[in-house]
Amino acid sequence: MRNVKPETGGFFQRVRSWHPPAFAPGYKSTVVRSPQRAPISFGNTLSEITGPVFGREILGPLDNDLTLNYAKPGESAIGPRIIVYGQVLDERARPVPNVLVEFWQANAGGRYRHKKDGYLAPLDPNFGGCGRTITDEDGNYSFLTIQPGAYPWPNGINDWRPAHIHFSIFGHGFVQRLITQMYFEGDPMIWQCPIVRTIPDKRAIETLVAALDMEATVPMDARAYKFDIVLRGRRSTMFENKLEGN
Ligand SMILES: [Fe+2]
Repeated sequence: MRNVKPETGGFFQRVRSWHPPAFAPGYKSTVVRSPQRAPISFGNTLSEITGPVFGREILGPLDNDLTLNYAKPGESAIGPRIIVYGQVLDERARPVPNVLVEFWQANAGGRYRHKKDGYLAPLDPNFGGCGRTITDEDGNYSFLTIQPGAYPWPNGINDWRPAHIHFSIFGHGFVQRLITQMYFEGDPMIWQCPIVRTIPDKRAIETLVAALDMEATVPMDARAYKFDIVLRGRRSTMFENKLEGN
C-alpha cells in the first residue's frame, strides 16, 4: 500500500478535441440536447475542486459482485462470468485512491432491468445490473459480473450498441467526475456504433476497450478484463519550491 498525498491545486482543462463533441448528428439525441452557443470558461473554485468523500462503510458485501447481488439465495446471474479490474489514475499517472466507482450494464441477452427498456430479450430474474466499489490506496478497483450482450437501439434503421459496461467515477473534486463506457477487446460491433464513432481519434476509442487478461483470469471460474481509467489531473502544486509529491 502506498501513501498517496492528497493534492489541493486546480485541475487541468479538458482537452475538448480528445472527447466527443456535444453535437454529433450521427448520434441523434445529441442534436436536440447539445448547447447551441460556444462554452464559456470559468476558473476552478472550491465548489469544483472539492467533492463528496465516500467511506467503505457504505459498501455492502455483494456490491462488487453482480453475479450475486440481485440473485436468489443459491442462484446466480446467467452469462459468461468475468472479472473487470483496473486502476484509476489522473493525467499525471498518479493513482486516485478512495474514489467511488459505480457500474451498470445490460444482462447477457442485452436487456436492462429498466421500465423503458422494451427490447424483446428476456430479463434474468437473478441479475439486477448495477454495483459499486471504492478504489484502494493505489487506485485499484475490481468487480465480478457477467459479460453483457449487445442490444439494438432506436437511432438509425439498424443500430446496435456493442457489449459495454457504464461507469461513473467520483474523483476528489466535482470537475474530476467521469461518466464513461467500457468495451470488450475484439468486439467487431465497437466500430459500428454511432456513439463510439462520435469520438474523433481512434486512439481515444482504444482507451475505452478493456483488454482480455489471461494472467488475471481465474481458471474454471471467470475470465478477466483490464480497464484503466484516467481522470482529470490537478495542476502541479508548488510547495516549498518543490513540486508536491516529488
Ligand atoms: Fe448501455
